[in-house]
Amino acid sequence: MLDRAVRSQAWLDPVAVSIQKAVGAAYEALGPPGPSIKNVMHGTTALGHPLHPALTDVPVGAWTVGVLADWLFVATGRVPAVAGDLALAIGVAGGIVAALTGYTDFHETDGHQRRTAMVHGLTMTFVLAVEIVSLMVRLGVPELRPFAIGLSTLAWLIVVFGAYVGGHLTFGIGTAVNHNAFFEGPMDYVKVGTREDFREGEMRRVEAQGLPVVILRRDGLLRAIGAVCAHAGGPLEEGKLDGDVVTCPWHYSRFRFGDGKVVGGPATFDQPLLVVRERGGIVEVKLPNPLK
Ligand code: FES
Repeated sequence: MLDRAVRSQAWLDPVAVSIQKAVGAAYEALGPPGPSIKNVMHGTTALGHPLHPALTDVPVGAWTVGVLADWLFVATGRVPAVAGDLALAIGVAGGIVAALTGYTDFHETDGHQRRTAMVHGLTMTFVLAVEIVSLMVRLGVPELRPFAIGLSTLAWLIVVFGAYVGGHLTFGIGTAVNHNAFFEGPMDYVKVGTREDFREGEMRRVEAQGLPVVILRRDGLLRAIGAVCAHAGGPLEEGKLDGDVVTCPWHYSRFRFGDGKVVGGPATFDQPLLVVRERGGIVEVKLPNPLK
């Protein structure tokens, strides 16, 4: 039902494009460090895993504790008022960082995923704004604390919906999941072509027992990685080659042929690496053992 409702919201697209442009412009404005900072925000660098879903636990958890503390304060007076304020403040700090990482990931979404991400992002941004107002009221106008507690309680109810949409975005429609999570292929060498099929400096897509593989010959040597981009499934053989680094044509993640490592986001997972050999003019590949 959520899926059907979101798919029909065409009005979200122009709003989404404007936000994506603003995110892109913000990183460009950072100058040369911009791409490196963006890689950290995706989770490509340092974490090797999407950063946003890990961070969202902080505001959701803190705001949950905050609402509990608020109502225990109201109902029993045995929990100090500051407990709710502190949890709320921690949630706001975590929420700001989570929002920054979320909008960074949002920059490379499109289609149905982008509409669903918009619903999630706008909901959570609204919640964050309400929580900031609640915090300011608590700090600036203490006599309005009951109103602030009401605001935080309302925001918590909305956050449950936003978190549900976020979960659906990942688990329901596969945003930010590793598109090679179920990568399987030959454990023994299988023929994928002959020497003449793989020319110096060129990438070529082949199938190895149904597994899409992209092979590059560089300095005479053959290297092979999975052909399906870990980020969202882009065809790497159509990407741009720079040395032994290929840039995905869809959202410009970069992967190294030598070891399959991701060297530029938005992808956060490496490409599967395959072993290649050339014997008697025949080119064969297989998965490494153990898998890398
Ligand atoms: S599919 Fe998004 S970077 Fe490759």
